[in-house]
Amino acid sequence: MRMYDCILAKKMGRELNRDEIEYIINGFTDGTIPDYQMSAFLMAVCLKGMTKEETLALTMAMAKSGDMLDLSPIAGNNADNHSTGGVGDKTTLIVGPIVAALGVPVAKMSGRGLGHTGGTIDKLESFPGFVTELSEQDFFSQVNRVKFAVMAQTANLAPADKKIYALRDVTATVDSIPLIASSIMSKKLAAGADVIVLDVKAGSGAFMKTQEDAILLAKTMVEIGNGAGRKTCAVVTDMSQPLGYNVGNILEVKEAIKALQGEGSKDLMDASFTLAAKMLTGAGRAESFKEAYTLAQGAVADGSAFEKFCEFIRAQGGDDSYAKDTGKFTRAEMEVEVRAVREGYVRRMQTEEIGMVSLLLGAGRQTKESIVDLSAGICMHVKSGDYVAAGDVLATLHTNRPFGVEEAHKRMLGAVEIGEEPLEKTEHVLAVIHSDGQGQEAGRI
Ligand code: URA
Repeated sequence: MRMYDCILAKKMGRELNRDEIEYIINGFTDGTIPDYQMSAFLMAVCLKGMTKEETLALTMAMAKSGDMLDLSPIAGNNADNHSTGGVGDKTTLIVGPIVAALGVPVAKMSGRGLGHTGGTIDKLESFPGFVTELSEQDFFSQVNRVKFAVMAQTANLAPADKKIYALRDVTATVDSIPLIASSIMSKKLAAGADVIVLDVKAGSGAFMKTQEDAILLAKTMVEIGNGAGRKTCAVVTDMSQPLGYNVGNILEVKEAIKALQGEGSKDLMDASFTLAAKMLTGAGRAESFKEAYTLAQGAVADGSAFEKFCEFIRAQGGDDSYAKDTGKFTRAEMEVEVRAVREGYVRRMQTEEIGMVSLLLGAGRQTKESIVDLSAGICMHVKSGDYVAAGDVLATLHTNRPFGVEEAHKRMLGAVEIGEEPLEKTEHVLAVIHSDGQGQEAGRI
């Protein structure tokens, strides 16, 4: 087999078979296929697309390029959720404890944040003492005992994806649905969960800017997951504004804690209860979506989800007194208000720009080596559709970087559009894609 022929075949729009795809992925991972040939191949995929069969074969080859975690030591069906990344997305911190409090094990491998989207591992490290480097044995034993554990992604999880992603990033080949779907799902399949619930974001703060593209990506990932023998479904949610009100690690942890104590914003709770309900039905804990949703709401209302969160923080060495008294968390030295310059209705938000402002304040990583300031970020005071008078506070910027404040203030003001007409408020959950690829309400995973 020759890489030249595979590139040519894809360029001409011919379907590649599994052997050819495995040859490409294995060869690129072990270094026998050079970057320039892989770049040409990735560009051909961007331009010609991939069939369902090719996308599944690509994902499996990438998943098998490193360790495949075997979660069989965990008792019962375990469930995992995954977000394609957004601004202010703290759902894992809420969903995990809810599902675990209802007895379904959640064994989670998570990454650190890069760019304008945050990472669960960074957020959890806001708790003094919290350990994310767990041995497999400790990870399994905690999941069996507490029903919830989160460990940092191991270096050898889908190494092919790591190498391919680095190349995509510099060859303008990121925005391809088969490449995004295989990248995400290779890591999910390697992480071993029985039930996978995907949260695919749509809007100005997400990879997928339109609902149509997000649904297409969701369907592609659902097909891959089920094709690989895992119960997989997806929820498509709105990312045309930050999720909830806070952006930045400690600020998001505080908001997640409030949500677990029953004081979450509507969009955050809609997303969290929907994801939790899909995980519960997938794992067989509830018969119907409606029953599962009610169970999830009950776990917040009766305090068991918050209790589970504290137990989980303690189990990984963290100081859970911070969860009980969030005033103990460090605050940034500067808090700067951004005020509306005119009256009107909050219309669109440039959500990615809000994410970039939080980076400027120190809350994220520009490169893998950047150090995150856990206390930095943004507290939004408004949602799209809200009325504001001139001088009302739109957001508070939290930072320890005086040099970036002026620019951050200016860009934040520009990111929140205020207009004459009220904007119709839309649902946060835009679509649910079931495991059979159909989009509808309730019932099956
Ligand atoms: N997240 C991933 O892990 N991979 C992509 O290609 C896009 C988002």
